[in-house]
Amino acid sequence: MRVACQRCGDLLDVVYEWGRLRVPDSLSAFEQKWARRGEPHCFSGVWRFHELLPFVPVQQCVTVGEGQTLLRTSDGVAQFTGVDPDRLYLQYEGMNPSGSFKDNGMSAAFTHARFVGASRAACASTGNTSASLALYCSATRLMKAVIFVGSGKIAFGKLSQALDYGALTVQINGDFDDAMARVKEVTEQLGIYLVNSVNPFRLEGQKTIMYRVLEGLGWEVPDWIVVPGGNLGNSSAFGKAFHELLELGLIDRMPRLAVINAAGANTLYQLVEKQGVRWNQGQGDLSRVSRYYDEMDAQGRRASTIASAIEINRPVNFNKCIRSLEWCDGVVREVSDQEILDAKAQVGAGGMGCEPASAASVAGLRLLVAEGVIRPDQQVVCILTGHQLKDPTATVAYHTTDQDQFNKVLGSRGVRRATFANRAVAVPNNLDEIIKAIRLYS
Ligand code: F0G
Repeated sequence: MRVACQRCGDLLDVVYEWGRLRVPDSLSAFEQKWARRGEPHCFSGVWRFHELLPFVPVQQCVTVGEGQTLLRTSDGVAQFTGVDPDRLYLQYEGMNPSGSFKDNGMSAAFTHARFVGASRAACASTGNTSASLALYCSATRLMKAVIFVGSGKIAFGKLSQALDYGALTVQINGDFDDAMARVKEVTEQLGIYLVNSVNPFRLEGQKTIMYRVLEGLGWEVPDWIVVPGGNLGNSSAFGKAFHELLELGLIDRMPRLAVINAAGANTLYQLVEKQGVRWNQGQGDLSRVSRYYDEMDAQGRRASTIASAIEINRPVNFNKCIRSLEWCDGVVREVSDQEILDAKAQVGAGGMGCEPASAASVAGLRLLVAEGVIRPDQQVVCILTGHQLKDPTATVAYHTTDQDQFNKVLGSRGVRRATFANRAVAVPNNLDEIIKAIRLYS
């Protein structure tokens, strides 16, 4: 599976000849698929937009029922971020079959893998890509999964999924970037299909998150999309989705894009906001990127954040992401682990709950409102990329009364307070004491 150009080394991109394809002349035409949701490709939140990612005939597209996700307002989270009530929407991708947005891209990459006759697929992962690949393999039995994870670097919810689904799980003594480097070598040597987001078909599937956001908003373009940034597949896919829709005349303006790094894994933030690296229609000076990586290696700096999903040094989709930032007049921000966990607690208390990396979007929005970059009356969509149950360790440590547990899991990462902690009340096994406690605390 070739994912990069042999001449320049940059990642491949899927480009359609729209003039030769049949694309609906309005986005609302996709609503007709709802009436046919008894058919798996109309039920799928990815494939009911097949006309916008038509790289394989629809009957050959693999689906496990992904993309049944929700766009909801949350006044509690809006208040926390400083956005006016009813102006903040949360796109909850945790509702996907494997509990994260990855299923959108996996259904597409898996489809392509089968289309080219692959029987084994592999990925390196901070946990969600691997859970997704493992699920597609177990649910369809069409391929075997080989997954590479950094030892001790993956949240328990995610690891348990890969094991339960029966994937061959290779734990590497290293971090995500090490696992990524090894999986590239292994897949090349053994001829295994690679489903990381270096694979351009993954991004095609992830475009549909934006189609569903538009659908949830009655096909209106929001002012801002705010998304966490790790390997930068989502931000790359989102910009491409809107750029194509604009090109096709299906929308009349672009939203703005905010990509939020964890401060402990802030390559994009450093390069874009501090060093001014720009896409510049493909003519930008990207030599600073490799210099940055060389410095990182020379100084032995490695990403470190409680948001383990986005604990990444070298985001593989960097170039496509800065192209999206240009198309969407985007910004990049970084947020601390403290800010991420406080935002996560607010999402739990006033939204649907999410894993730490997802809450970076909400923490980033709060910062951008405080800075005046996003106005309170603007319509904003934060992407909640993963389910709350993915990382119970971080959640329980935040809410715990056990100081040792707090220090071990969070204190070691510079988290000092749990401002929004909801502490369990310890009571003796005695009815009177229990009733007393309930009267006192409720
Ligand atoms: N949020 C969650 C929950 C993730 O799992 C990831 C990435 C991201 C955000 C970052 O998204 O790469 O599109 O910028 N997880 C990958 C994995 C790296 O292996 O599961 P991105």
